[in-house]
Amino acid sequence: MASQQGSTAAPSVNGLAYPITDHTFDVVVVGAGGAGLRATVGCAQAGLRTACISKVFPTRSHTVAAQGGISASLGNMGADDWRWHMYDTVKGSDWLGDQDSIEYLCRNAPAAVYELEHWGVPFSRTEEGKIYQRPFGGMTTDFGKGIAQRTCAAADRTGHAILHTLYGQALRNATEFFIEYFAIDLIMDEEGRCRGVVALKMDDGTIHRFRSHLVILATGGYGRAYFSATSAHTCTGDGNAMVLRAGLPLQDMEFVQFHPTGIYGAGCLITEGSRGEGGYLTNSEGERFMERYAPSAKDLASRDVVSRAMTMEIRGGRGVGKNKDHIYLHLDHLDPKILAERLPGISESAKIFAGVDVTKEPIPVLPTVHYNMGGIPTNFHGEVLTKKDGDPDRVVPGLMAIGEAACVSVHGANRLGSNSLIDLVVFGRAAGLRAAELVTAGERHADLPKTSADLALSRLDGFRHASGGTATAELRMDMQRTMQNNCAVFRTGDVLEEGHTLIHKVAGGKDDIRVTDRSLIWNTDLLETLEFDNLIAQAVVTMDSALNRQESRGAHAREDFSARDDVNWMKHTLAWLDEKNAKVKIDYRPVHTYTMSNDIQYIEPKARVY
Ligand code: FUM
Repeated sequence: MASQQGSTAAPSVNGLAYPITDHTFDVVVVGAGGAGLRATVGCAQAGLRTACISKVFPTRSHTVAAQGGISASLGNMGADDWRWHMYDTVKGSDWLGDQDSIEYLCRNAPAAVYELEHWGVPFSRTEEGKIYQRPFGGMTTDFGKGIAQRTCAAADRTGHAILHTLYGQALRNATEFFIEYFAIDLIMDEEGRCRGVVALKMDDGTIHRFRSHLVILATGGYGRAYFSATSAHTCTGDGNAMVLRAGLPLQDMEFVQFHPTGIYGAGCLITEGSRGEGGYLTNSEGERFMERYAPSAKDLASRDVVSRAMTMEIRGGRGVGKNKDHIYLHLDHLDPKILAERLPGISESAKIFAGVDVTKEPIPVLPTVHYNMGGIPTNFHGEVLTKKDGDPDRVVPGLMAIGEAACVSVHGANRLGSNSLIDLVVFGRAAGLRAAELVTAGERHADLPKTSADLALSRLDGFRHASGGTATAELRMDMQRTMQNNCAVFRTGDVLEEGHTLIHKVAGGKDDIRVTDRSLIWNTDLLETLEFDNLIAQAVVTMDSALNRQESRGAHAREDFSARDDVNWMKHTLAWLDEKNAKVKIDYRPVHTYTMSNDIQYIEPKARVY
């Protein structure tokens, strides 16, 4: 379906003219990963004229890299119940998750997986032809009593299978794709309503203004703020940074997940599904040390617990390798037929990136940044929230966020493995349903404010002509090293204070940045700079939020405040960035301690042991 297009008078920024091509849609989705595509399909099916903008080809979005599976209490491999899934997710979140949202997620998960199956996802199968499900960390039966097999898998390429299927569905539903368009900034009006987005078309350098009743941000996480991450180079949290620049807060940014099994030295993911299939970790003494840290769940404890245990083994001098700085993951005892059938992708990755034949040798692994629990605060419809006039849940009109970009918050302080893919499709669908309620197809658009493209264009123009003394790559490396060293698995006040000083210094370095090429066409240095600018804003609020939270909860492990403190800290962090004055403002919103229905009651906090 064609968008309404046409060039308007060129606005003047710093004396330079940028002609703009205008587009008008009912809904614009930014991002074409699992969440963005699912929302796009929903909006299109509701009859809304929907554009999906993506900086990469849709099937190259980072969802493609998800391996082990998608959680849903189908009960194909033993008894299961969405309430048990909810209990595990609340416990996994270390009681920071909003329980109304978690109920929505777990209750709707089975239907979302069956929808994917009917749309064509090639799930692995049981002997009887049902969707195959494997155990994953922290997933239990009967409110913590047994081990659940809840994670639905397409071998170890589940994200790949889902992403390709959703892209096919989006094409089938006549979505208009704008591929290799880099979204620069949101268009906000004076009343605080989001009215669209400004983007750079990467292959010809033209500027595009998308006007819409609703913008849905599905721009993923910001793993690349760190040096070693399982995230793709493109995971720069562009939507999160746009939200900060729009004067809105991000939530719970201190909670950064380290996946226990990134390949040592390369950072590539080795799925938790490998431990689900029977793999285990050992230290330099050949000991299965997880038995000491998590006597019941052992290697299938939740990720924060396993990553901390591995770090403590290494610190205790029991790491493996020449420098005793990593851990072994054993799959060599498993039947090679099972490895070939259920874990073909990671068998190949281990060979390519570690030179290891998994049927014969252990894989060298290390906790590696994998997921951001924090992001744009939303309710379970996907509507973006801010705190205003004392209302902690004030909806920002015209703006939604879903997927890893959002903090809905179902993962709280720690996400359980395989709860990410289900989050994408459940809340992608929810956003489509809400869009259908909020927007009438073809409804007239109010005129855009005259200044609608100023923020985006002055930012673009500023970087395009930046001729300082420091290359973007240098600042990016300083940022990644600082985050890796000063905001890692374990944190202390001193290390975070130092990190705070260092990361603000890197942010200040933007004043002296140098971009080598002034062209707008395929200017990778300029794009890297826009991405770096997005990353550093998120790195700053992450560090400040971590320094501020004086307790240990989920992925935020403070050695100087080693206990969880529910009295003072069972609350979400909200962080606003004042870039001009290099200041982060922190406030809080309460955790939702209520459920949506009487089918399950609020799950009270208790000690979190596995
Ligand atoms: O280990 C994995 O397969 C990753 C899954 C996830 O992060 O949900």
